[in-house]
Amino acid sequence: MSAHITVAKTAGFCFGVKRALEAAYSLAESGGGCTLGRLIHNRHVTEELAERGVVAVNSADEATGTVIIRSHGVGREVYGELERRGIPYIDATCPFVAKIHKIVAEESAKGANVLIAGDPEHPEVKGIIGHCSGESRVVNNVGDIENLLNFENGFVQSSLIFVAQTTAQLSKWIEYKKIIQKHCTKLKIFDTICSATTHRQTEAERLASHSTLMVVVGDPHSSNTAKLVSICSRYCRTFFTEDALSLPVQEIKQALSVASGDHYIGITAGASTPDGIIKEVHRIMSEITRNDEMDIDFMAEVDKTFKRVYIGNRVKAVVVSVNNTEAVVDIGTKHSGYIPADELTATPGLLPKDVVKVGDEIDCVVTSINDAEGVVYLSKKRVDAAAGLEKLSDAMNSNATISGVVTQVIKGGVIVTCEGTRVFVPASHTGITRGKRTDTPETPEELQKKLEPLLKKEVSLKIIEVAESRGRVVGSIRNAQKEESDALKSKFWSEVEVGKKYVGEVKSLESYGVFVDLGGVDGMVHSSELTWNRIKHPREVVSVGDKLEVYVKSFDPEKKRVSLGAKDPNDNPWTKFLAEFAVGDVVKAQVVSTTPFGAFAQIIPGVDGLIHISQISLDRVTNVSQYLTIGQLVEARITEIDQEKSRVSLSIKELLEEEAANAEPEETIDISEVEGAVEAAEAAEAAEAAESEE
Ligand code: F3S
Repeated sequence: MSAHITVAKTAGFCFGVKRALEAAYSLAESGGGCTLGRLIHNRHVTEELAERGVVAVNSADEATGTVIIRSHGVGREVYGELERRGIPYIDATCPFVAKIHKIVAEESAKGANVLIAGDPEHPEVKGIIGHCSGESRVVNNVGDIENLLNFENGFVQSSLIFVAQTTAQLSKWIEYKKIIQKHCTKLKIFDTICSATTHRQTEAERLASHSTLMVVVGDPHSSNTAKLVSICSRYCRTFFTEDALSLPVQEIKQALSVASGDHYIGITAGASTPDGIIKEVHRIMSEITRNDEMDIDFMAEVDKTFKRVYIGNRVKAVVVSVNNTEAVVDIGTKHSGYIPADELTATPGLLPKDVVKVGDEIDCVVTSINDAEGVVYLSKKRVDAAAGLEKLSDAMNSNATISGVVTQVIKGGVIVTCEGTRVFVPASHTGITRGKRTDTPETPEELQKKLEPLLKKEVSLKIIEVAESRGRVVGSIRNAQKEESDALKSKFWSEVEVGKKYVGEVKSLESYGVFVDLGGVDGMVHSSELTWNRIKHPREVVSVGDKLEVYVKSFDPEKKRVSLGAKDPNDNPWTKFLAEFAVGDVVKAQVVSTTPFGAFAQIIPGVDGLIHISQISLDRVTNVSQYLTIGQLVEARITEIDQEKSRVSLSIKELLEEEAANAEPEETIDISEVEGAVEAAEAAEAAEAAESEE
């Protein structure tokens, strides 16, 4: 009895997947970016891409740098979103898929309804729907078609086109077409299953029909792999496996033990399966079938062979030498092992000697093998990242705060390296102030500028998402800050009391006062509590960022309000005034303001007196400004001091009245004396006249 293993020629990467991968690796070379969804259905590949800086994101919202549209394609709205946000993208939509987009766009624009055979949840189908401008439906089995024919008469009897998901199962597509053709008259059918899928399925069917058992290799989420399993199962016992490690060795052994005659084993694989994995599966299947001793411990054998190394193999390595570009390691095989500097650590700027030294035993993973040259390349960074991923996952589950260093500013956020793993922190979670919302959002360049000060800073953060399958970790600096601030707040409210003094930082200035950060809680100092002097705006005495000594005047824990004072009672000018001045004193005061009812004049800094309009002049004053101007120095008497209300009344008029009263009296003439003198002079004149007549 002998065993023959055949690997399908069409197994592995298809044209469209290869094309998308080339785009991703070249993006990785030029600094990284992201893919909208997992680039292909293979976690080994997507993990490796994530390691190289090309991570999978769910939407344009999370985009980091250039975006790759994967081979499945996307709807028109996604292109619009990327363009509207100015996000650069590489369109790796498979040309076979793009052709369907074109067909449905053109036909639905002409008024045709679109019927799609495929999985309604598959991203390719969702993308196709996104190119239809009119009505569309998806059918995934005969039952769906019957329902459509029975209940959606209007849809099927209109002008209708029928297309298939590129990876639809050929036999089912043929069956669907027959049913639809019988019922729909205005029908146009487009055979859109891609040729790669057709060849793969046809070859798998042929191989399975001649095999004792089939092994189908691929990702559990891969639609085309699932269809291969379904096709092969119709002909022989079929085993599905994700990779060599997951092969159900015992079941295979069992299946072979009951099969008579020579064993014919076929291997095929989905369109997203790397060659390395297919080869490894082939090698393990060869080990299993090498001899007929079925009682051999296959797993032990598998373990042994794994020590011979394969891509993705985790090995223990001993460092034998270190230079500036790599570490040379012994992995216990005939190969020479090399770990390039950038595969030693995720921390930028470190040299190999900063990470390992000769004699260290380290865990690594094999990244490539060159058997011809006997060389194996390995990565320590990936193993560290996997361990880091576990730690970060624990941190997320326990809501622990961890620290890391911001190592990269990218479009849409920053990368923080924690536990040897890259953690993406979206801009909205970095804790930076984004400014008030406006109709015009920040440009990516403006946002990047705001994020740059974070570079190389050590930050505390919370882990909010760990997608191990995609190697994606998302963190939030903001959440860590919030937790810290909440703790400070509750401490503040448990300790605050009236009169308690704090030194706080001025956070903002308003026309009516300033807000001061007391350590997690902001308090408000009203302008009148800021200084003893009269001010028009707080900016006259403080600036944002100033440290201010304050005391608590009152607080309301429910409304979370704290009212503060900043004036030193020892500098109270009213106390000084009372010590120096009394009613009746004459003071020199400077007019600081005028009002319709009088003027205020500063007696000493912080104490103004009111000169009532009736006390300005001896005249009757109707317009204060005609008599007094701001800045004018006046002399006035203190006529009243109201200690309770801290008010002083002044009077200029009193001084003027006193002045008038004290003035020298004018010389007065006694009129009777004048009258006497006049009479005497007249008498003398009369006597003279009488003498001359005589
Ligand atoms: Fe394209 Fe067909 Fe592959 S549609 S992505 S070539 S399976």
